[in-house]
Amino acid sequence: MSIDYGERIPNNVNLAEDRRLQRALESWQPGFLRWWGEMGPALPTQDVYLRTAVAVGREGWAHFDHVALPDYRWGIFLAERDPDRRIAFGQHRGQPVWQQVPGEFRAELQRLIVVQGDTEPASVEQQRRLGLTAPSLYDLRNLFQVNVEEGRHLWAMVYLLHAYFGRSGRDEADALLLRNSGSEDSPRILGAFNEETPDWLSFFMFTYFTDRDGKYQLGTLKESAFDPLSRTCEFMLKEEAHHMFVGTTGVDRVVERTATLMREHDSDDIQKYGGIPIDVIQKYINFHYSVSLDLFGGETSTNVANYYTAGLKGRWQEERRKDDHLLTEAATTVQQVVDGRLTDVRLPALTALNADLRGEYIADCATGLTRWNRILDGVATLYLPHVGFNRQVGAFAGHHVTPDGRLIDRATWELDRDRWLPTSADKAYVHGLMRPVYEPGKIAAWLAPPRNGINGRPLDYEYVHL
Ligand SMILES: [Fe+2]
Ligand SMILES: [Fe+2]
Repeated sequence: MSIDYGERIPNNVNLAEDRRLQRALESWQPGFLRWWGEMGPALPTQDVYLRTAVAVGREGWAHFDHVALPDYRWGIFLAERDPDRRIAFGQHRGQPVWQQVPGEFRAELQRLIVVQGDTEPASVEQQRRLGLTAPSLYDLRNLFQVNVEEGRHLWAMVYLLHAYFGRSGRDEADALLLRNSGSEDSPRILGAFNEETPDWLSFFMFTYFTDRDGKYQLGTLKESAFDPLSRTCEFMLKEEAHHMFVGTTGVDRVVERTATLMREHDSDDIQKYGGIPIDVIQKYINFHYSVSLDLFGGETSTNVANYYTAGLKGRWQEERRKDDHLLTEAATTVQQVVDGRLTDVRLPALTALNADLRGEYIADCATGLTRWNRILDGVATLYLPHVGFNRQVGAFAGHHVTPDGRLIDRATWELDRDRWLPTSADKAYVHGLMRPVYEPGKIAAWLAPPRNGINGRPLDYEYVHL
């Protein structure tokens, strides 16, 4: 199933054979392009070396070329259909997956798609000014690659809304272009997507921690009994891998530079040499990790239990789990605050599915810390703070937990929080380092160069023409 780029909206869903749907999406398209023009990248460019999907299969799915950003071909690409696919969990387990939305789950499925869809353009909005201070053309290109793909992920969700949810789906598709990150009147749905991404350290942390939340959410929707949603998410996950790469290697390079300066000068105080101090990196980790944990919602949720039983949303790698995939009898342990103490509480596994997904995410996040500590090689140690640190959602909301997992009172928290979270001075320092480097092959002094170029190109390749 290859993708036809001769069409106005590239796709592999036979859009040309459904004229009503095609017309509806074509009438949404100008609004999307207007939104991209107003809320997309603020830095004007001639063209950018980007990858575009040309097929959805395993081999050679992407094509690389210089493209003018507004001419990027955003399209609708679903992973190939498995005609034998069956529902892997919940009360309909073993039955064929659904090609249409069952009436009784319509509202829930639409809501899941809208919430996912809302995050995609939000991150483009959050990142729109970063191009003005890119540390290299290589990084600038990666930023734009992430941006165009988040735009395409919006298309992915809008396609589902238009194709399967009728009038209310079309209204929701319009509303996705009307909410904006950080807006007073109509903010994005989830908190982390209304935070600023004001500098490149934040961008690397965002792509490491917050995009990774996206990966796990998509992983649960990929298990959905609603097959078009599953196939959409499967292909999005393929693109998402690059966003993870940008975050992981971005933080790698900051840490590497910091470690080099610390060793060279035998000091933690590397500001005077233009590096980012290790404690500032730790505070950025603490912030981005904790707001990303909030995206998993409360530890317990009857909604999520119902989604699972109904087959709408599964667990991470559902089919690899060795249990009954119903969870009506299973129990699990979740840490909560009981009588002023952090306590392990036994709960029905079904209502604690958010905590299950969060656990998978935390284990994945920890691999980055191992990497960064390997790069630091003893000169310093970075860590993930306790799951209860700086939380606004779930069992720890309203409590104060230190990064090493001690419950403290509000006064102590207020006294110490500047040691744990970025202060305005930290942010101002990082902000001050953000000056654009647009000369091919040159890299800003606060991070190490990347190991490799993109798609086998050299580091001094002109990834972006300004
Ligand atoms: Fe995305
Ligand atoms: Fe992403």
